Amino acid sequence: MNKLVLGTSGKGGTGKTTFAALLLKVLKKSDKYQENGILVIDADPDTNLPDVLGYNIPRADTIGGVADILKKKISNGSLPPMVDKQKILEGQIFEKIIEADDYSYDLLTMGRHEGEGCYCFINSILTGILDNLIKGYDLILMDLEAGLEHLSRRSSSNVDIMFIVTDPSRMGLETARRIRELAKEVAIEFKKIYLVGNKFNDDMISKLEEYAKDIKVDGWTVVPYDNEIAELNFKGESLLSISENSPALNAVRHFTREIGLI
Ligand SMILES: Nc1ncnc2c1ncn2[C@@H]1O[C@H](COP(=O)(O)OP(=O)(O)OP(=O)(O)O)[C@@H](O)[C@H]1O
Ligand SMILES: [Mg+2]
Repeated sequence: MNKLVLGTSGKGGTGKTTFAALLLKVLKKSDKYQENGILVIDADPDTNLPDVLGYNIPRADTIGGVADILKKKISNGSLPPMVDKQKILEGQIFEKIIEADDYSYDLLTMGRHEGEGCYCFINSILTGILDNLIKGYDLILMDLEAGLEHLSRRSSSNVDIMFIVTDPSRMGLETARRIRELAKEVAIEFKKIYLVGNKFNDDMISKLEEYAKDIKVDGWTVVPYDNEIAELNFKGESLLSISENSPALNAVRHFTREIGLI
């Protein structure tokens, strides 16, 4: 099976990470992705997907943290010039991949650079390493940063299926439209784009449908407000422990089936 990359995007706070976690819960059970497994990438510099999945990742265990240390070593000359920096970085990235307790997925947290100056050299080898890494999985699920930056930075250029998450707000919907438009402008061709109306109640559904037609996406769905999500969040428990009959999980399961992901 060819690898498939899914991404979640949208305005800040609309529910990208929540949707990604619910997707993961549904997809990790599917027979389709058992052979080479699922890699979850938290590609939001303000990382929050690990929290929602019940992990606490120190910055040193993010790719940004690893890159900072390597950069420092390169600039203070503590690495001999002949040493293969790609190999070093590759080894360290592999070490930072977390395997879920039940082996149902792997997790990699990108984080952000905090060092100064240009990371151009490190970023270019990093891109190569990540491109290689994702080839080893059946499915990659990326939780992207809020807004439009992932498009200009091209961190979403590998995404095949983009879920744009919006809440029932004008700004949420307008950000969805801008993501749609900007992807075209910067020539990033997603194979499919879906609009996800999160925390939508029944009387707002027709508005989302209108909007989806207007901005021309390949499909749309709604995920209802679900108290259990709020409760798990409040208790700091993993969203993966949400009940099988949760209305939000049911909506996500139904949609993934409809679009042929499970
Ligand atoms: N369907 C839902 N029902 C109840 N609460 C929800 C739902 N979706 C999201 N939430 C809550 O809304 C808040 C924002 O959700 P989330 O963190 O997923 O958004 P985000 O788009 O990833 O935010 P950020 O831009 O900060 O990364 C969280 O407290 C989450 O628990
Ligand atoms: Mg988030």
